[in-house]
Amino acid sequence: MNDKQVTFDDLVSLSKRRGIAFPSSDIYGGIQSTWDYGYLGTEMKRNIRELWWKNVVQKRDNVFGIEAAIITNPSVWEASGHVSNFTDPLVDCLECNGRFRADHIVDDVCPECRVKTKFTDERNFNLLFKTYVGPVEDDANIAYLRPETAQGMFVNFTNYQNTIRRKIPFGIAQIGKSFRNEITPGQFIFRTREFEQMEMEFFCAPEESKKFHEYWKKERMDWYINELQIPESKLRLRDHEKDELAHYSDATADIEFNFPWGWGELEGIAHRGDFDLSAHATGSGKKITALNIENNEHFIPHVIEPAVGVDRILFAILCASYDEEQLENGDSRILLRLPESIAPIQIAVLPLSKKDELAPIAKNIVEVLREKFRVEYDETQSIGKRYRRQDEIGTPYCVTCDFDSLDDQAVTVRFRDSMKQERVKIGDLNNYFSMKMNV
Ligand code: GAP
Repeated sequence: MNDKQVTFDDLVSLSKRRGIAFPSSDIYGGIQSTWDYGYLGTEMKRNIRELWWKNVVQKRDNVFGIEAAIITNPSVWEASGHVSNFTDPLVDCLECNGRFRADHIVDDVCPECRVKTKFTDERNFNLLFKTYVGPVEDDANIAYLRPETAQGMFVNFTNYQNTIRRKIPFGIAQIGKSFRNEITPGQFIFRTREFEQMEMEFFCAPEESKKFHEYWKKERMDWYINELQIPESKLRLRDHEKDELAHYSDATADIEFNFPWGWGELEGIAHRGDFDLSAHATGSGKKITALNIENNEHFIPHVIEPAVGVDRILFAILCASYDEEQLENGDSRILLRLPESIAPIQIAVLPLSKKDELAPIAKNIVEVLREKFRVEYDETQSIGKRYRRQDEIGTPYCVTCDFDSLDDQAVTVRFRDSMKQERVKIGDLNNYFSMKMNV
């Protein structure tokens, strides 16, 4: 990845131009900071989810997946504290009547009309999205869209303890949509009202909780560096000050990324203590404990929670991989230096000409490689323009069939980052890319 200082506009423009993300319901004028993912963004998000699931769930024998409902009994959110405490401080600008999150206002200046220090007093604004279940819109039928996936794990703790056939420590992990009526969404896909979370609740004995908090901080940081290949210089771990902690947290460390506007939260790794299981035991009237087999006593487990947004990871990866390069011939090129595991297309197969016999050869190569890799066939425009497009969408390898291919049964493999080229026999391509990508 690179060290170029990418701007926010670079990324939004590339995303729209190439099909990573578009403003949602664009033909109707959009709806405030809501985005639809295009064919490339969709593929990248799937790759991010799969890498996370593999690392957090599948490679461990003590973390188990769950898919909990988005709409739950509203008692869940009363017990969890979200109905009363899940608020952000809201102020109105007395000049332009705009509404803003008080803690997002820099230097007492209205972000909209730029007038200084003319705000109402702060008041708490609850971020829960409300809806009604069934045909009657009255208070008895209020439900909430989940603002975090985490509560699905807490309310199922006993079900899991009874079915997974192992004792704590163990974790329950989930990937899914969450909803928050954010006062000021924005900065592209960094903060939106509908977003996707990847969260894991790791239940352990209270005396082991500090050790596991440290363990998960390191595991998660290593994942960004080793698997997502985000440069260490763009990441840092920061412990929350006491007055920053969420209502459920004893201690939280954020993994922060250096976004175009500065350091910002990528992932939170919270020590939630026994807050949630105790709250649901009280709220439901059910016993929610684990058994210490040594002294035969029941106790309430503590929870360590790594929690991150898929959209936010995608944004961080786009920032870290975006680059612009001056070429020797005076041209310049934009490229995404994406890792192979995230690249939406891993190999582009390009016949030099769409006439003649080259297209069928290229199409055959696509059919073979498609079994194992994410492959695209492209026969439009000049070869130079096709390379530039593949660079911009982060494709690490292009395979070009030229007229020599008819004689030597070989193709040219071009590397995105170095633009170097190599001749490879068509029959060897599958093994060649398996070795290159280590799959
Ligand atoms: N269960 C704990 C929890 O939800 P959080 O810090 O509020 O903690 C966890 O959220 C992660 O979810 C954040 O670090 C961020 O990556 C992502 N996230 C939170 N709010 C978001 C939003 N409005 N838009 C996009 N991602 C968001």
